[in-house]
Amino acid sequence: MGDGPGVAILVGSLRAGSLNYAAAEVAERYLSGRADVSWPDLSLVPFFNQDVEEVGDPPAVVALKHAVAVSEIILIFTPEYNFGVPAVTKNAIDWLSRPFGNGCLTDRIVGIVAVGPSSRGGENVREELLRICGVLSERVYPETLGIPKVSQLANNRLPEAAENAVRLWVDQVLVYSKQWPGTTP
Ligand SMILES: Cc1cc2nc3c(=O)[nH]c(=O)nc-3n(C[C@H](O)[C@H](O)[C@H](O)COP(=O)(O)O)c2cc1C
Repeated sequence: MGDGPGVAILVGSLRAGSLNYAAAEVAERYLSGRADVSWPDLSLVPFFNQDVEEVGDPPAVVALKHAVAVSEIILIFTPEYNFGVPAVTKNAIDWLSRPFGNGCLTDRIVGIVAVGPSSRGGENVREELLRICGVLSERVYPETLGIPKVSQLANNRLPEAAENAVRLWVDQVLVYSKQWPGTTP
């Protein structure tokens, strides 16, 4: 591990050509050399099931929890589905919320991004995640990033303005993180 903060990236879209995945890649590239970035694969995380949990966390859940446990900062990139949080994103948060009252999101700085084609930049999912994550951590960055009116990638990249917005927002999250002890951006 280097001198920078640990940053875990969670992407709530599993599709190839995901706008949110592309935004996460911008953040990962931008943080390169300044943070220890991990990117757990949410496609491997099974649906939360308390019976499974009682037997023991499946390997993908162990990997997810470890990535978050060693990171001060959690960046969530998610689509909005049906005016709310997609299952992939919520499922990851549900696992991370366990055990109840002592999940590994506790005291994590959480940043929330939504990219999509609508003019409101996933406003509903961002608001919902602020509420959900706010129950789990007191360090949720209140300024979510919504990137509206993007429908597809060009050469696997977001439009330049969107990439710039991601980089600016990552800097803002790092500034926000400085107020919390133990975080060293
Ligand atoms: C099941 C489903 C529901 C959706 N609901 C919304 C919605 O409520 N609001 C919105 O802005 N976009 C909605 N969309 C469009 C997504 O924002 C769009 O497909 C986006 O590109 C998904 O993110 P991704 O590119 O990272 O996969 C929906 C898409 C799907 C597949």
